[in-house]
Amino acid sequence: MELPYAEPYKIKMTEPIRTSTRKEREAWLKAAKYNLFMLPSEHVFIDLLTDSGTGSMSSAQWSAMMMGDESYAGSSSFLRLKDRVKQIFGFEHMLPTHQGRAAENVLFSALIKEGDVIPGNSHFDTTKGHIEYRRAHAVDCTIAEAADTQLDIPFKGNVDLKKLEEVLSKHPKEKIPFVCLTVTNNTAGGQPVSMENIKGVAKLCKKFDVPLLFDSARFAQNAYFIKKREDGFADKTIKEIVREMYEHADMMTISAKKDGVVNMGGFCAMKSAELYQKASMFNIMYEGFLTYGGMNGRDMDALAVGLDENTEFEQLDARVRQVEYLGSLLDKYGVPYQRPAGGHAIFLDAKKIMSNVPKEEFQSQTLCNELYLEAGIRGVEIGAILADRDPKTRENRYPALELTRLALPCRTYTDRHMDVIAAAVKNIYDRRESITRGYKIVKEAPIMRHFTVELDKL
Ligand code: F0G
Repeated sequence: MELPYAEPYKIKMTEPIRTSTRKEREAWLKAAKYNLFMLPSEHVFIDLLTDSGTGSMSSAQWSAMMMGDESYAGSSSFLRLKDRVKQIFGFEHMLPTHQGRAAENVLFSALIKEGDVIPGNSHFDTTKGHIEYRRAHAVDCTIAEAADTQLDIPFKGNVDLKKLEEVLSKHPKEKIPFVCLTVTNNTAGGQPVSMENIKGVAKLCKKFDVPLLFDSARFAQNAYFIKKREDGFADKTIKEIVREMYEHADMMTISAKKDGVVNMGGFCAMKSAELYQKASMFNIMYEGFLTYGGMNGRDMDALAVGLDENTEFEQLDARVRQVEYLGSLLDKYGVPYQRPAGGHAIFLDAKKIMSNVPKEEFQSQTLCNELYLEAGIRGVEIGAILADRDPKTRENRYPALELTRLALPCRTYTDRHMDVIAAAVKNIYDRRESITRGYKIVKEAPIMRHFTVELDKL
């Protein structure tokens, strides 16, 4: 008999989590104004809010932290991280930041002007926030197939090259500071971009003389999917595939909290010395001196090790297959989610599951809250609340996909937790017809409202 796969590590330390009663959760949810971001973590049993900074570091990462050099200038930890970034991605220049959005802030300050246009594949919300805050426009060129959750295609994160070409030819190149390619495409369901598509995007960027930026939070998962799904890559290592991906990019921003498997950190990196000079000023202004930016020396060391370890096949295989396992349970129960299962998360199709709730009453938020009430599981809304209002009309935007994301922190929960999650989702799915009302917004911020929105039950 062929042996099943198992995680390439054992567990050395545990952290207790607690169950609660439905009555307790009802009171806690009300006190949180029906916004799961406002819950204390002790009131959550299984926390699937995000895989960002919530994974478990390895023993090698923890021991590397002891080598941290906290010198203000010229820290050896910085030099180790800089070398690793060069080795993994090929970029000569790097600026450490406290997380991904800080890397966006630093680099976009050097690149974006009012009225600019930034095409891409489903820009992440902070990325879009940093673009729109500068009165520029994020134009989504993701393939239309990504909006059909039941379509099972290997590279659902891809860019529609025709759409991209239209945007690139419609505006003068001075108005397009860069194209933003998100690998994997988080918003469309943790879906990968193929090497062929990366090459197609890079070719268009060359044709129109526009630089290409990779938003790289889950770059290693993207390389894993290329290895597993794209012809000609089965025999290449993840590190070889990553290098090949990044040969096509001029610069990157990264939230290191995902595929770097650290609790905090990020950076931007680039080929151009001139851009590095320009961005350096903003790094010093917003983050910190060039050799630490927003990070401690010890955190840079943990990241240097994390980037090396998490670009090994066995690590990624265990991670992605846990997500697939959760997906296989949902298949058994007939629950619709964005197919195929994503690299870091399952994205439930809230539009289909909560079809009796009007979209104006926020279907995905309703599903998130039901799941919390059912089992103390905290997912996250990727739907109309996250989509914010149109900056011009101030009307609510209703995106093509209304998803509830169940993000699995790296190396944190067991397959038994997956069994509980799937059973809780099934229970809600079985009584979905009885759920007919959702929520109304009572208070919201003008941008990125989902973090702090206050809701009332209808
Ligand atoms: N880009 C992508 C694709 C992301 O997924 C994130 C964060 C960021 C940029 C911003 O990075 O949080 O370190 O400032 N995503 C987290 C998530 C928050 O839950 O998906 P950050």
